[in-house]
This record gives sequence, C-alpha cells and structure tokens, in this order.
Amino acid sequence: MSNITFTMIKPDAFANGHSGAILDKIIKAGFRIVALKLTSLSKEKAGAFYAVHQGRPFYDELVEFMSSGPIIAAILEKSNAVEDFRKLIGATDPAKADAGTIRKLFAENVGRNAIHGSDSDENAQIEGGFFFSSLERY
Ligand code: CMP
Repeated sequence: MSNITFTMIKPDAFANGHSGAILDKIIKAGFRIVALKLTSLSKEKAGAFYAVHQGRPFYDELVEFMSSGPIIAAILEKSNAVEDFRKLIGATDPAKADAGTIRKLFAENVGRNAIHGSDSDENAQIEGGFFFSSLERY
C-alpha cells in the first residue's frame, strides 16, 4: 500500500467543462494535490503512456482520443491512494460504474471515460514520473 496515485482528467471531461467539478470531488474525498498541470499529449506521448495496451483492439482509438485535446494531470496523496481513488472514479466502463462515482457522473463510454487512475503503486510512480519532475511536486 502506498499513499500516492496518479490521475488525468481526459480530453472529453476537460472539453465538456467538468474539470472543476471533478477536482472538487477529488479534494472532498480527502486527496491532497501533490502536483497538477494543464497540458496535452502528442500521439507519440499518448502511445508511450499507454504502451502496456499496445496490440489491444482499442489502442489506436485510445491514443487518438488521448491526444485530441487538453488534459489535466495530477499526483494525489492519501492513505491507500490507489485503491481509494479507483473506488472514487468507478469502473472503466461508466455503464458498469457505481452511482456517484466520477465516471458514472461524467464519462460518455468506455473509451471516453473522463478520468484515469493508476492501477498499482508501481504504475502510480511510473505515471507520475512521466509528467512531473521532483521540482514540480509539493
Ligand atoms: P484507463 O483507466 O485510462 O486505462 C486504459 C484505457 O483504455 C481505459 O481507461 C479506457 O479509456 C480505454 N479503453 C477503451 N476501450 C476499452 C475497452 N474495451 N476496455 C478497456 N479499456 C478501454
């Protein structure tokens, strides 16, 4: 168990104006913002971030979507961060997400699903390092 997770508010949620409401839910759920930036991913960067999914049928669409507009990237701190954050965002497919979760409230479908959350402590470290230097963490 670690106290750090990584998240991105994805291009659909940013473009639909949900960033403020999503950050409010994250903070009210007890997560502390360690690092935060509004940025965007090139196709190359999106492909590298999701390299673990290379070869899966949704990979090309995922890379296209994740490089289609601005995102908000953040490192978050809380005890049991990875597991608690995945509960807060809900299932990958919003149709299967519990009521009140961020994906249930704001996601369009399994591809355009509003938000990313790390799936393990190890990946939280790797993904945070993809976006943030030590000087950008508080
Ligand atoms: P995320 O948690 O960011 O990690 C991988 C992403 O692949 C996932 O969210 C979805 O947005 C995306 N994706 C697209 N289609 C699928 C699918 N059929 N199954 C799982 N993930 C998918």
